Amino acid sequence: MAARRPIIIDTDPGIDDALAIFLACASPELEIRAVTTVAGNVGINRTTRNASALVALAGKSQIPVFRGAEKPLAGTWSTIEDIHGQNGIGDATIPDGPNGSRGSAVEALIEILSAAQPNSQTVVLLGPQTNLALALEQQPDIVRGIKEIVLMAGSLGPEGGNSSRYAEFNVHVDPKAAHKVLDCGRPMFWAPLEVARQASVDQMWIDLLRATDRPCCNAGADMLEFYMKSFKKPAAALYDPLAVMWLIAPNLFDVTATTLEIETADAERAGQTRFKLGEGDGNIRVAVSCDADRVRTLLLERLAQL
Ligand code: RIB
Ligand code: CA
Repeated sequence: MAARRPIIIDTDPGIDDALAIFLACASPELEIRAVTTVAGNVGINRTTRNASALVALAGKSQIPVFRGAEKPLAGTWSTIEDIHGQNGIGDATIPDGPNGSRGSAVEALIEILSAAQPNSQTVVLLGPQTNLALALEQQPDIVRGIKEIVLMAGSLGPEGGNSSRYAEFNVHVDPKAAHKVLDCGRPMFWAPLEVARQASVDQMWIDLLRATDRPCCNAGADMLEFYMKSFKKPAAALYDPLAVMWLIAPNLFDVTATTLEIETADAERAGQTRFKLGEGDGNIRVAVSCDADRVRTLLLERLAQL
């Protein structure tokens, strides 16, 4: 087997974050160095508790969890318990992890990336990008250790937002942080809203998940059923799992080089992601579609192994 790819998962669990964390834990291609938490879907106490509980349920309680930013770099945001439940994971009941936060997320990012071989670590951003932005502000030379930044964020359409008319939630919560991360110049892969919606799952898929009768699958099924109800649709988009899916099965994606501008000045359009597909030198890439059936099949296969 090829060497495992070292990753840091920065996350605001969050129902789809939970499925993404499970997928990463079930993927031997990946070595999860750390999970860093950020406020987003719900507050920092809940996202941190959930991250610790999720890695433990996946049998990976040795993965260190680090508590991160409790608010964006500037301004305020609204948590979305109506979508993710009061506890952030669809009100599913899972035991607390044995280990709480091991310390500060920003300090952990700086420590891991500073000590890493050049261009060796992949940072997977599944929530507002505040922690990495703060780490870059405090110690800019950590970019040396970053191989690639992989994100679920952004929307291809100029008015394709889900958090506002113009902006996707993760970028909308902290546009300044997203702009700072974009400016760091490291290779990036963006999994936008539209592609995540292609890979939505329905009740039949959720039933297959529950039929495995595995702890993470049962919890994931409970969470996804809550997610479907909150969207009032017979399907749940797999937002964050797509970022992890890119790392383990890039062949399932159609990807293009792009340039990218992130709106930070205009209040109404704050967080808008303006991609120019086909332009740029390839340092920034964005998914434009995915093989949704094969994504769903691989996700089910992997989760069933936990
Ligand atoms: O817009 C979708 C993103 O916002 C996902 O990461 C979801 O968890 C929320 O954080
Ligand atoms: Ca998220």
